Amino acid sequence: MSRNMLSIVLALVAFSTALAVDPPKAGDAALGTQPYDKFEKPAVCATCHVDIARQHEQAMMSQAFTHHWDEIEYFELALPHAEKVEKVSGVKAGCNGCHAPLAFLAGDIPPKPVKENTRANESVSCDVCHTIRGFEGDTPFNFNWISSPGGVKQGPRDAAVSPHHETSRNDFLKKAEFCGTCHNEKDPWGLWVKSTHLEWKEGPHGKAGIVCQECHMPPAAGRSATMGETHPDVRQHLFHGAHDTGKVRGSVEVRIHPEAREAAPGDTIRLTAVVVNAKAGHKIPSGSAEERVVWLDVEAKDARGKTYRLPVDRKGFPGEEYTIADGRALAYQDIGEIRGLADFRGLPRDGEVPDGDRIFRLPYLDEKGRMTVAQWNTAGFATDYRLAPLAAVAETFTWKLPQDLPPGPVVVTATVWYSRLVSSVAEYLKVPREESEPILVNSHSTTFTSLD
Ligand code: HEC
Ligand code: HEC
Ligand code: HEC
Ligand code: HEC
Ligand code: HEC
Repeated sequence: MSRNMLSIVLALVAFSTALAVDPPKAGDAALGTQPYDKFEKPAVCATCHVDIARQHEQAMMSQAFTHHWDEIEYFELALPHAEKVEKVSGVKAGCNGCHAPLAFLAGDIPPKPVKENTRANESVSCDVCHTIRGFEGDTPFNFNWISSPGGVKQGPRDAAVSPHHETSRNDFLKKAEFCGTCHNEKDPWGLWVKSTHLEWKEGPHGKAGIVCQECHMPPAAGRSATMGETHPDVRQHLFHGAHDTGKVRGSVEVRIHPEAREAAPGDTIRLTAVVVNAKAGHKIPSGSAEERVVWLDVEAKDARGKTYRLPVDRKGFPGEEYTIADGRALAYQDIGEIRGLADFRGLPRDGEVPDGDRIFRLPYLDEKGRMTVAQWNTAGFATDYRLAPLAAVAETFTWKLPQDLPPGPVVVTATVWYSRLVSSVAEYLKVPREESEPILVNSHSTTFTSLD
């Protein structure tokens, strides 16, 4: 090879490595790598993709930065905590990797408050998802998606023709891993503090290949754009979850039965309630499990209309105390530390859940072993007592019937309730009531006879 040829080859090699060393970055490394104006606004997409845009506006992902509780938790807890404690300093930027990806990519950290109306407010927008090409590594988590913003939109179909942009068929959008990039989260202690995709993967839906999109973006016949083709299976951008009362209602089923159909005052009767996560492809609660409470309340009513609340029987597993409501238990003391309140003793751990009720939850513990709603401040878990998909849990209630129980029918009702945010925390942080308001998920009644 002549010297000239050699230098041309070397120059080419140098040129191609220069191209190769600059692929889009993923996860933490993507901070500050893409200015805001690389992304189009949802209002642009909405001119043609009308129905999808209207659906998405009503879904939580379009409000992931602006919704009241998100704003309160980031600006009043996570951000001050990150500025004070080195161990959790990464969340100053990190929360935004999932909640305000445009601000994260633009390096606009911390983003301006919601009222400033910056592009952070676009939250998880159309152009965030439709410019994701894949993810880095083997496990999707902590926003490790790879974003290539620009004129090419990633979509599910071959040869979709648009006057506004190019499209590229990308099967990654049809995979659960796509959702997992934001729906799995590891905290500064290396713990999985959000694991919806991992729960799905090890559950029956993951094994059967029934992906997130089947339940959260079901297909309907129609067009995806006003001037587009009709298709039998246009993916609806519903993304309904814990904030959709209708989605939560009925997702857990319950049936209760007595051991005997007749009993006399003074006898002991045992009732069994069977609780099933019948409709979710992951545990219930999932995702923000640190703040959710799902509970089983059992109440008996005698022939004269007097009611008795029955406390659940203990099973004796480690950490069980966190799963039985106790009005005296305090928790969330780290809120006081974050806010520098020396005399803060904590808040009622179980909010308004009645004493003795079984709580299906994953208790998150801070370094001092106290329950926390700050998933970024979690150093351990007490137990995992949530409802796994398509699995049933039996809870028993042993009741010594009062001597004065009147003869006649005794109706026992089991009710499952769901609350997105434990009420004591919601009240203390002034999160609007809708966030903690209990949702009636399901209930069932049974009867036995009290003998003379
Ligand atoms: C001027 C109208 C117009 C605008 C503006 C527009 N699109 Fe489209 N888009 C279309 C049409 C038409 C199609 C083809 C639909 C079909 O026939 O299935 C399409 C297809 C798509 C597809 C591919 C769907 C598939 O089937 O694979 C995606 C993804 C997409 N658009 C996203 C966006 C996003 C994101 C924006 C905003 C940044 C946007 N579009 C703005 C008209 C538009
Ligand atoms: C078989 C249907 C089904 C599948 C598959 C499924 N989900 Fe769900 N999902 C539900 C139902 C029903 C609910 C409402 C009950 C609840 O809140 O857990 C729900 C709730 C949620 C919530 C709110 C959970 C909470 O407790 O805050 C999120 C987030 C979610 N799903 C994301 C996902 C992701 C991501 C995947 C895939 C890894 C997925 N889902 C797979 C049915 C499904
Ligand atoms: C959270 C991520 C996410 C957001 C936000 C999002 N999409 Fe999608 N979109 C998807 C996924 C995933 C699919 C493909 C699902 C499949 O086929 O399994 C899809 C499909 C589409 C399609 C093709 C539908 C079809 O089946 O023909 C269009 C068009 C589209 N999206 C446009 C938009 C527009 C416009 C917005 C904003 C208003 C938007 N998307 C917001 C994830 C998202
Ligand atoms: C870029 C990050 C990102 C991606 C990708 C993503 N999500 Fe989300 N998702 C979020 C964030 C952040 C929230 C929390 C919104 C909020 O603050 O309430 C959320 C919330 C949700 C909710 C809960 C709504 C509720 O009512 O509580 C559902 C359901 C959901 N996503 C489904 C999906 C599905 C299905 C996919 C894949 C097709 C997906 N998401 C992909 C970031 C993402
Ligand atoms: C890896 C992505 C990711 C990171 C990082 C992340 N979140 Fe989230 N966040 C989500 C998803 C996904 C949901 C919705 C889960 C669900 O509905 O169950 C969510 C839900 C929430 C909610 C509850 C909204 C609701 O549904 O009730 C708040 C508040 C919140 N996040 C704040 C934060 C704060 C503060 C940080 C930083 C300390 C943070 N998040 C970091 C993905 C993330």
